[in-house]
Amino acid sequence: MGIRQIAKTTGGAVQYDGAGVKLVRVIGHADVTDFDPFLMLDAFDSNDPKDYIKGFPWHPHRGIETVTYLIEGTIEHGDSLGNSGSIDALCCQWMTAGRGIIHQEMPQSSERLLGTQLWINLPKKDKMTAPAYRDIRSETIPAVEEPHSVVRIISGEYHGTFGPVRGDYVKTLYLDVKLDADTEWMIHVEPSNTVFCYVVEGSAIFGDIDAEVVQHKAVLLGEGDEVKVRAKHHGVRFLLYSAKPLHEPIAWGGPIVMNTREELRAAFTELDAGTFIK
Ligand code: CO
Repeated sequence: MGIRQIAKTTGGAVQYDGAGVKLVRVIGHADVTDFDPFLMLDAFDSNDPKDYIKGFPWHPHRGIETVTYLIEGTIEHGDSLGNSGSIDALCCQWMTAGRGIIHQEMPQSSERLLGTQLWINLPKKDKMTAPAYRDIRSETIPAVEEPHSVVRIISGEYHGTFGPVRGDYVKTLYLDVKLDADTEWMIHVEPSNTVFCYVVEGSAIFGDIDAEVVQHKAVLLGEGDEVKVRAKHHGVRFLLYSAKPLHEPIAWGGPIVMNTREELRAAFTELDAGTFIK
């Protein structure tokens, strides 16, 4: 099969969302076909609390999973299931919206907020599943240390070590990879999976083409069964995502992602009527 090469580069551009949070929308509406089953990736990287303190006040979700992973900083949250707490450094919140959840996500003032929120689409058959929430603490996320790399396994398996979750609906490999300067790292991936990487810090070469990918950019990797990454002179930290595409129609309205416009309309009607939460 061979080494996957870059098929598409995204990210870099700053946007505002929530009540005025400055972020990098790494993937979004324009990328859903190419990045299926991943819908959105927002990245936070700021040393100025003014960029994020307004947060994401109460809002609904349906039909997706939101996966928030922080490398630095804290996000406090609460939801309509009665959960509340905080996502701290190297912790992950894996939230299945399913048939509906209302939550708020409020970053707290800290030296640096560094992390991402990924939206994973739910398969048609699972869109109306019961909402669920997993508070994954940092001590349950294994870090595999190799001579030139540290790999944290948020979801899935790496070299015989399993992360705390696999993805109940969409089996997802989610790794946080740190490579020393000028070293190479490879991983075997499922040939039929969508695979992309987001560069958190530093820069690297992905595949065989000598094009440097810098921080806040992501690369979608094309066909193949191996991912090859070569860190540039300052090393690199990147997140790797891999999962099988759903190949299902997408009807996306703000925080709700269904398969048809009728389902979207129904969701917004229920929100207006106060019957959204079942
Ligand atoms: Co949300």
